[in-house]
Amino acid sequence: MTDVVISAAVQKGALLKVTLIALVVAAITTAVAIFLPWLPASDSKEADRIDFDFWFVTAICILVWAVVAAVFLYSIVAFRARPDDDTDGPPVHGHTGLEITWTAIPFVLVTAIGILSAVVLAKNGDLQKNHLRVNVLGEQFAWNFTYPTYGNLQSTTLRLPVNRQVQLKMTSRDVLHSFFVPEFRQKEDLVPGQTTSINVTPTKLGHYVIQCAELCGLGHAVMLGQVLVMRQADFNKWAQGSSTATQGGGAAAGKALFTNNGCASCHTYAPAGATGKVGPDLDKLPQYAQQAKKPLEAFVRESIQDPSAYLQPGYPNVMPSFKNLPADQIDQLVAFLTKGSS
Ligand code: CUA
Repeated sequence: MTDVVISAAVQKGALLKVTLIALVVAAITTAVAIFLPWLPASDSKEADRIDFDFWFVTAICILVWAVVAAVFLYSIVAFRARPDDDTDGPPVHGHTGLEITWTAIPFVLVTAIGILSAVVLAKNGDLQKNHLRVNVLGEQFAWNFTYPTYGNLQSTTLRLPVNRQVQLKMTSRDVLHSFFVPEFRQKEDLVPGQTTSINVTPTKLGHYVIQCAELCGLGHAVMLGQVLVMRQADFNKWAQGSSTATQGGGAAAGKALFTNNGCASCHTYAPAGATGKVGPDLDKLPQYAQQAKKPLEAFVRESIQDPSAYLQPGYPNVMPSFKNLPADQIDQLVAFLTKGSS
């Protein structure tokens, strides 16, 4: 725009009209931003900070959009060519003042966003003294949690006390996975051979779903985990009760191994209450053993240690080998899979 165009516009009372259009656009856009449910509930301290940052950026975007849209709409009407006007427009040589303005304002806004985001990241990464540590192991296609401060208590549900910061130390047994609970906003990759970490401070009691957010194979879509946010007293009761219960052996141990090794996310098996559909239905193991022409127990043992030795038709060859499990755990798993929970 040139001085000529600007002064022509100002003469037409353009500033007032552009301001009015900008206010209308801003009002409509703000209503769309506020009244449509764009985000899941914010149920952690970290999520509150991230949302504050998000709304700060959104407010800036609405402001910029309103000004641009208003100038645009006004110009379309005020400067349109008359039907019989074939003359060239006035020559344009730029406007130094305008260019400095539209460089300086975005510079200030983007710097402000950068500073606020850095503060949010630093606060969310800040570890408090009384935090709870939980180790997270991701594998195709299940989540496993270990509580080092409770005798390495294991769980496939991530149980967390409310209003206490938890540090999740994560790694993967096989490929890349990503831990994501939308209501907590925090998301972090699980990388084989590395330990990553992220903090969450849940602020509401209830159930949440962990969705693996990194394409990790056929079962990626079903790699869902459960989070249960509990009162501190209930959490203590669970943690102390469970850490003594895991000492037991026999079929109960087999069932715990079945759950803790993630078998349930791919297989159906009634005694474990498992309903996975990726791999063969383990309620039909006797039938599969017949098809493989092997005794049931030997067949089950082989399928755990060397899953591709016999492939049930109709199912993909994606199961990892569990031959590195300790021998007594394999025995317990075989016992559980051949005799059920009885
Ligand atoms: Cu694990 Cu996707």
